Amino acid sequence: MEAIILAGGFGTRLRPFTFTRAKSLLPIINEPMIAHLIKTLPKKVDTVILAVNYRREQIEEYFCKHDFGKTIIVNEEPEPLGTGGAVKFADKHIVGSFFVLNADIICSLNLAEMLRFHEKKKAVATISLWPVENVSEFGVVDIRKDGTITKFVEKPKAEDAPSDLINAGAYLLEPQVLNYIEPGKLISMEKQIFPQIIQNTGRFFGYKFQGHWMDVGRISSYISVHKLLLEKQKKTFITGDQCTIQGILRQSCAGNRVSVGKNTTVESSVLFDEVTIGENVTLDHCVIGEHVSIGDGSVLRNVAVGDNERVQDGTVLDNVVVWNQPIPQGYPSKQIGNVIGE
Ligand code: GDD
Ligand code: MG
Repeated sequence: MEAIILAGGFGTRLRPFTFTRAKSLLPIINEPMIAHLIKTLPKKVDTVILAVNYRREQIEEYFCKHDFGKTIIVNEEPEPLGTGGAVKFADKHIVGSFFVLNADIICSLNLAEMLRFHEKKKAVATISLWPVENVSEFGVVDIRKDGTITKFVEKPKAEDAPSDLINAGAYLLEPQVLNYIEPGKLISMEKQIFPQIIQNTGRFFGYKFQGHWMDVGRISSYISVHKLLLEKQKKTFITGDQCTIQGILRQSCAGNRVSVGKNTTVESSVLFDEVTIGENVTLDHCVIGEHVSIGDGSVLRNVAVGDNERVQDGTVLDNVVVWNQPIPQGYPSKQIGNVIGE
């Protein structure tokens, strides 16, 4: 069985970290986001198709070095084709029912149970569902008691949302769904394809689950997901290999070869590999990129510091992104991909 992982797109809401790396390679508790996802795949899935474009070579390199016991196919689109276009672009690798997974979700969904549900319902498509308070950044469904979805609206205004149940970003599809997608075009699965399947087949189902769910689409949720996973592991902090920590870490995570000086407090923050933090520093709700140094006596709150940046001694920053290097060529100034026609 195959699983397509949608790992393209620029991840613009996670800049500056996505200026230098693919969104799916962002570390979560010191392991790339995509590795967490692949570990949740059922045994039955023996082939993983990575639908990628931006920074394809980094993803390929990662999977050359790490074995997950599954065949990994790196399927690079010539240009971003959107969530629907990327699925269609993988169709030569699909032989039967297949999963499609957004790469930026951390959750407790049991995909094997979802598969059983899908088979029992004889569904053409099953999507995972999660309740949220503020639905307007997501796909929202109208659902009957038996699980049939009768309506799917992508990113509706709050007043137009049919319910509080959102698309949690994991789909189980029958190959016939591929017939609905025109090849080689920028197509949104959520906006253009799901509504057609609902209308034409009447066999579009929703699968609710318990536990936790988080979209790691922006810096704030990136910090929150670390807090959630630390809590689940009953830890107040995690550090990688060869770290020298003289200060205090609270609800924070540090990568490999990180040093934190005396009288420094790191709170609700994530430090990538090879970060050096001086003495008497306060970091609160910060994400600090690879190879960054933060000078003595600095105070940073709600700050994202991109890879390789240097923050001078005594710097005070609040609610900013630190990035003094060129923005990579072709990197969009606005979000593209899933948001089409907005
Ligand atoms: N290969 C490829 N090509 N992947 C893409 C492209 C593309 O052109 N565009 C986006 N992706 C990938 C992203 O990397 C992400 O893993 C996934 O497709 C979804 O795109 P996002 O840009 O993250 O969409 P979103 O977060 O605004 O909304 C989606 O996720 C929500 C749940 O988090 C939608 O599926 C919503 O309906 C859903 O509720
Ligand atoms: Mg997303």
